Amino acid sequence: MHILVTGGAGYIGSHTSVVLLEAGHEVIIVDNLSNSKIETIDRIKQITKKELIFYQEDVTDEAAVDAIFSNHSFDGVIHFAGFKAVGESVEFPLKYYYNNTVSTMVLAKYCLKYGVKQFVFSSSATVYGENDVPFVETMELLPTTNPYGETKVISERILTDVAKANRDFAVSLLRYFNPVGAHESGLIGEDPRGIPNNLMPYITKVAKGKLEKLRIFGNDYPTPDGTGVRDYIHVMDLAEGHVAALEKLTPGVHVYNLGTGRGISVLELVKTFEEVNGVKVPYEIVGRRPGDIAESYADVSKAKAELGWTAKRGIREMCRDAWRYECGV
Ligand SMILES: NC(=O)c1ccc[n+]([C@@H]2O[C@H](COP(=O)([O-])OP(=O)(O)OC[C@H]3O[C@@H](n4cnc5c(N)ncnc54)[C@H](O)[C@@H]3O)[C@@H](O)[C@H]2O)c1
Repeated sequence: MHILVTGGAGYIGSHTSVVLLEAGHEVIIVDNLSNSKIETIDRIKQITKKELIFYQEDVTDEAAVDAIFSNHSFDGVIHFAGFKAVGESVEFPLKYYYNNTVSTMVLAKYCLKYGVKQFVFSSSATVYGENDVPFVETMELLPTTNPYGETKVISERILTDVAKANRDFAVSLLRYFNPVGAHESGLIGEDPRGIPNNLMPYITKVAKGKLEKLRIFGNDYPTPDGTGVRDYIHVMDLAEGHVAALEKLTPGVHVYNLGTGRGISVLELVKTFEEVNGVKVPYEIVGRRPGDIAESYADVSKAKAELGWTAKRGIREMCRDAWRYECGV
């Protein structure tokens, strides 16, 4: 298949591009490099020893997107491009609503114009809000407490309505839990600009001495050790989940949780990271962060039953691969 990967120079998009190329698909990446580097494109080629086409364009730019669709005959689109920092979205809501929802509408519009019928969307576990764990796809979505989360809810609705109005349109809404780790080569991984928002890149930077200490937000949650519990998933498992979803896609809307189904606390992750990599991660406990929930983990039975996909890599591999990437960059 010929697949358009938006945001393919980013963290999850680059790993998914590797898996797509290795599965024999043709990959065309469009990314404006607002949160990624051009070197990642070369590294994808280096890992896979395959060629791909890259456009440095913004997917909210209709003329640019139209030109890309007219140059190719795509079988499907995987839409990763978007902004993802929860805190920043509270500060700059319009930046988030605009980029994340307009990009989805523009891509859906040009899929319809050019007869591209398969659309895979990067959604997030954040759409479940404060539902009880484990999160199941059939749950009613609850308010997400931040504009970033709302952009995911809105984009899901937009794509659902487009699929209702166009009966041959096939949409997969993939709700990711907490992607961590890196490709085992150490050539690509998560390399956020500035101070990381996510836990694992923060841990690796503290372990490397680039940041002084980890701040753990709250140890008074109703969890076994009081720190927040999340469902961490190796980014290569997540990438493989996309290819499984794409290859099984049929008309209509399909929602899948992509997680491991197992919750791990912040302290458990820190201890495992220290043990696996033989390094120290100094930390301090500070107050809860507004908007954080106590626990988030997935019910993963639907993806297993319908896609034949489950996460294979464990927390130790996640810690090992994240550290290997940090040490190489
Ligand atoms: N990483 C996570 O924890 C997580 C969890 C759930 C969902 N997601 C979603 O998965 C997707 C990918 O996340 P990621 O972690 O790889 O983030 P990332 O920032 O590494 O990748 C996103 C890529 O999209 C590009 N981009 C952003 N806006 C664009 C635009 N308008 N036009 C073209 N390119 C644009 C950026 O340059 C970047 O390369 C995002 O939609 C994110 O919201 C991520």
